[in-house]
Amino acid sequence: MLVGDSEPVIDVRQVSKVYRLGSVSVQALRDVSLQVVAGEMLAIMGPSGSGKSTLMNIIGCLDRPTAGQYFLRGVDVSRLNDNQLARIRNKEIGFVFQNFNLLPRLTAVENVELPLIYAGVVSGRRQRAIAALEAVGLGHRVKHKPTELSGGERQRVAIARALVNEPTIILADEPTGNLDTRSGAEVMAIFQRLNEERGITIVFVTHDPDIACCTRRIVRIQDGRIVGDEPVSAERRRMSRVARGMMAEPQGA
Ligand SMILES: Nc1ncnc2c1ncn2[C@@H]1O[C@H](COP(=O)(O)OP(=O)(O)OP(=O)(O)O)[C@@H](O)[C@H]1O
Ligand SMILES: [Mg+2]
Repeated sequence: MLVGDSEPVIDVRQVSKVYRLGSVSVQALRDVSLQVVAGEMLAIMGPSGSGKSTLMNIIGCLDRPTAGQYFLRGVDVSRLNDNQLARIRNKEIGFVFQNFNLLPRLTAVENVELPLIYAGVVSGRRQRAIAALEAVGLGHRVKHKPTELSGGERQRVAIARALVNEPTIILADEPTGNLDTRSGAEVMAIFQRLNEERGITIVFVTHDPDIACCTRRIVRIQDGRIVGDEPVSAERRRMSRVARGMMAEPQGA
């Protein structure tokens, strides 16, 4: 990796975002600055409408700021054209969404292969897709279609799809929002493993304080501004329901 430890991979500098709808404008982000170094895992929290998805879309190169700058691994993204933006997005970033966004007619492995097709990879696609499914514990579900999978399994297919291009960053917008507690904990355990074992930088949005405490850092947004940015103590991390869920099932529960 070219980027040193202290060099931010995500460097958002005084970014504002205004959406214009006819004569009405909505200021979704106001002067937001956020630096994330390689290998970090952090949660973004905040009330509905506070600008979390807007910020994630800018970090993920799906949208551009109205003002301010965004450097992704040292590259000033605001200067790129749409093609260059798509290329850097494909190479550096894997996305995971709340509602999975899988194509219903395709099998798990076909869904996971899609980013490789978009990236123009010609050989070895199937093997790479299977390896990504195995990495999320779904080696036995490759031929299943989304409707033949549980919610947690669907989200794991979506994580495999995000992984298959070997991104340096995974962005997840409420990845556990549609999952029950147990499936949510499984998804978080996968994120933690990808972060610890592969050094992938992970940024995700959640409303659940216990899920947020699986990370080492929580950033809080309100009315389009960052109002908090704090480390999670090791003690708090250990105490989270998710961490406890990773251990043995409670007896007689
Ligand atoms: N495409 C758009 N056009 C106009 N306004 C938008 C657009 N997308 C978002 N907004 C507005 O910008 C503000 C921030 O929206 P955003 O989706 O970032 O919030 P959020 O924090 O992700 O909320 P939630 O928790 O409900 O997902 C809201 O007031 C929203 O109505
Ligand atoms: Mg949102």
